[in-house]
Amino acid sequence: MQELIFATNNTNKLREIQEILGASFSILSLKDAGIETEIPEDYETLEENALQKAQFIYERTGKNVFSDDTGLEVEALNGAPGVYSARYAGSKCDSEDNMKKLLVELEGKENRKAQFRTVVALIIDGKEYTFEGACKGQITLEKSGSKGFGYDPVFQPEGYGQTFAELSAEEKNRISHRGKAIQKLAAFLK
Ligand code: IMP
Repeated sequence: MQELIFATNNTNKLREIQEILGASFSILSLKDAGIETEIPEDYETLEENALQKAQFIYERTGKNVFSDDTGLEVEALNGAPGVYSARYAGSKCDSEDNMKKLLVELEGKENRKAQFRTVVALIIDGKEYTFEGACKGQITLEKSGSKGFGYDPVFQPEGYGQTFAELSAEEKNRISHRGKAIQKLAAFLK
């Protein structure tokens, strides 16, 4: 069995990746790997942040590791909130505040096109690789649905009449940015 650290403590992400990779891989969370310090995310691109997180863990453990970084890129806002998606409305704000700010910023704008983009960075036997997944869609006029997390209630994927927050976890994972990036990682590892 191959052991890999996933640079996260998010149980949903850990379950999702373990399901995709199957029993021949053992995925360790940051906690499992004994890492308690905050992981730096100092850069302005998803690629650099994902690599920084993976490098940080690799330097401390010497173990194979991957990390992910995601942003919501809104066309009419020149790609914002992008890499700042988690703290769009301020460092102490939650998803509700972030969605509220996004809807206000888009008031009166006709172009509501957006995409989620995820970069997964893998360091295996000292070599670095990145995998990308994107999901195109649009920002709705108001929130709808209660599943998922983050911006899910205001993001409607292309070809769907529902938001991410109205889809089942399985359906979302099948078409989502992170799902696609992780599928690429899984294909590479297998
Ligand atoms: P992270 O890099 O996965 O931590 O994502 C950064 C931020 O993007 C999160 O705090 C969420 O606000 C947002 N985000 C990431 N993935 C999703 C998603 O699948 N749905 C909705 N929001 C997301």
